Amino acid sequence: MKQSLENKSILLIISGGIAAYKSLELIRLIKKSGANVRCILTKGGAQFITPLSVASLSEEQVYTDLFSLKDETEMGHIRLSREADVIIAAPASANTIAKIAHGRADNLASTTLLASDKPILIAPAMNPEMWDNEATQGNIQMLEQRGITMIGPAKGDTACGETGMGRMSEPEEIFGALLSFFYERPLKGYKALVTAGPTYEPIDPVRFIGNRSSGKQGYAIASALFEAGADVTLVSGPAALPDPVGINTIRVETADEMLNACQSALPADIAICTAAVSDWAPKDNKTSKIKKRRNHTPPAISLKENPDILARLAKDSPNRPDLVIGFAAETEDILDNAREKLARKNCDLMVANEITEAENVFGADQNHVHLVTLDDSEEWPRASKKTIARKLVVRIAKHINNPKNNKENTLNVRRIEAAE
Ligand code: CTP
Repeated sequence: MKQSLENKSILLIISGGIAAYKSLELIRLIKKSGANVRCILTKGGAQFITPLSVASLSEEQVYTDLFSLKDETEMGHIRLSREADVIIAAPASANTIAKIAHGRADNLASTTLLASDKPILIAPAMNPEMWDNEATQGNIQMLEQRGITMIGPAKGDTACGETGMGRMSEPEEIFGALLSFFYERPLKGYKALVTAGPTYEPIDPVRFIGNRSSGKQGYAIASALFEAGADVTLVSGPAALPDPVGINTIRVETADEMLNACQSALPADIAICTAAVSDWAPKDNKTSKIKKRRNHTPPAISLKENPDILARLAKDSPNRPDLVIGFAAETEDILDNAREKLARKNCDLMVANEITEAENVFGADQNHVHLVTLDDSEEWPRASKKTIARKLVVRIAKHINNPKNNKENTLNVRRIEAAE
């Protein structure tokens, strides 16, 4: 079936930047595929292209002003977003991105975005220094955490004569992202379970054994699975991250609670264990605070072993997810250790990362990993945890949609049930 955008409504926000001229081609591509496109042209955008060109190509009135009596009576800013299936900002200037990140509402574009309940796609365009600036990177991160999809930017020469990241993606690529948004949901109908974050094992009501895991990689994977159409349950230990959009997030504290929540989430087609589960827990959890004054010598804490959640999920059983992926943080012999863990825990793939002083990934936004199977390994260069998550999901989709890997055909059965 040829993919088209027939009967879809797109709201395109064109903000200030030389790349605005490429938006005219984007309008043409969207119109050609049968969709209706309404445009908001910001004051900055109108410095680069005229409302007349936008109106001629979109065959619609162009909206520019928040306080225009004419615009508001014909189509208020609330209706502009309500009547769209998706909102796309291209080009999205550093200023527009900052406004969205911080909830500003000082022009028609930012007000419409703030009042929107629709999915948002953003194609940034700016000078490479502006893109690299910590302020912009912080804003981008905030938007990604809210489930906003980034398209680009690309690397190359920019209009200001500098080279680097910041060029707006080409109209064809942005159009492709719009098509994927509507159609490419390679994991639609699949159920995925993700564990993330640390676990806290109580010593007494105020103290616990924990670790430095931030949960960022697991949360990014859960979001990437959701973007790919999967029905995702995220079982998270204590992490300072908000519940990701569209995901059934279950918060737990201890390894036992994490195991129970995972078992209740079964059956699933895919399980990805990124959690840094505490290997041990205090044998007895004191119900009252251990007082220092009453214990002149430091108390001994005896430990018991926690359940291995990954190994339990991956154990051969009728409920075993078809694809079980573990994460291995190693300080040495990374590939050998990861392979040994993969075999011992009976999982299908290990994502291994090296924990050295130079590459401490705990809490970081980037990761450098190796994909390890029993007889193969592949190194992925350092990239944002979001990028690693998306790459991993592409791999998962390939694996799962390969009929060779459909054990006992259970995947097909669940797919059909989900489609009905
Ligand atoms: N894991 C788990 N439950 C545990 C321990 C680990 O589910 N009780 C999972 C982690 O989520 C990860 C994988 O097992 O996917 C590897 O975790 P890691 O801590 O590296 O392995 P351990 O088995 O704890 O081995 P070691 O501490 O000896 O490196």
